[in-house]
Amino acid sequence: MKVITKTVELKAHLSEVNGSVGFVPTMGALHKGHLSLLEESVKENSFTVLSIFVNPTQFLDGEDLDKYPRTFEADSKIAQLCGVDVIFYPDVKEIYKSDEISVKAPNIRGSILEGYERPGHFDGVLSVVLKLFNIVKPNSAYFGKKDAQQLFLIKQLVDNIYLDINIVEMTTYRDEDGLALSSRNRYLSETQRQEALKLPNALHRASSLILEKEFTCSTIKQSILRDLKPLHVDYVEIVNREFEYISEIELGNTLILVALHVGSTRLIDNLYI
Ligand code: PAJ
Repeated sequence: MKVITKTVELKAHLSEVNGSVGFVPTMGALHKGHLSLLEESVKENSFTVLSIFVNPTQFLDGEDLDKYPRTFEADSKIAQLCGVDVIFYPDVKEIYKSDEISVKAPNIRGSILEGYERPGHFDGVLSVVLKLFNIVKPNSAYFGKKDAQQLFLIKQLVDNIYLDINIVEMTTYRDEDGLALSSRNRYLSETQRQEALKLPNALHRASSLILEKEFTCSTIKQSILRDLKPLHVDYVEIVNREFEYISEIELGNTLILVALHVGSTRLIDNLYI
């Protein structure tokens, strides 16, 4: 496995590769969720590139950019065990120049939910993902459904600007207690982690209600909000797979999305119905 920090060097290396290239973009602090993406890429492609880049443009002022966990040594061991061929590990100056052309997330779907809570966040995500796609030129790229809105917008990016990349959607990897793995879970104390379990439990209860044929979105939302008390909730919303608000659950075409805070840690989770 090679670690490459320079774009020109990565491009030169990739030009020698025969067969399909799989790509897993991350911000590092790898956990089993990332691992599931890497394993799928290694399984499906001749060559796998993992990028580790804590992208400053997707963090808002006052967010956790500075304290975001940076664990390169541990990450590279995990990557090696997984069969990753190259880790692309650029610094900020390698990716961003001054006074750049920027990518803008769509007006509506980019400014609701996460885009509303974190204005500009998706502009930053889409900018870096487009740059990385153009550097790596993968055949397939792997993303988690845990970040459902991000995944939706990346698929839209590929579609809108005619990129020839297959986007592979991976299911959310959870700990045994149900909590979705996230690099930010390491900020939680033991007591906070117990509090955080209200999130998967509330979603689980919502899915049981839906199984019992409760399809009214406002009722489902109320149930979730009740189960999340007294946590500080940013949103509980129900949309269809096109990210349009709906009032009745459509089986096979619905997403329930939740964002909340446990102490100073912000967590998101969702349920595809
Ligand atoms: P990061 O949070 O490191 O996540 C990298 C990828 O791992 C994303 O596609 C994310 O959805 C996926 N992932 C995270 N937790 C997961 C889980 N529990 N199960 C399955 N997949 C999971 O998302 C980003 O980085 C950045 O925004 C990025 C796309 C790299 C752009 O900077």
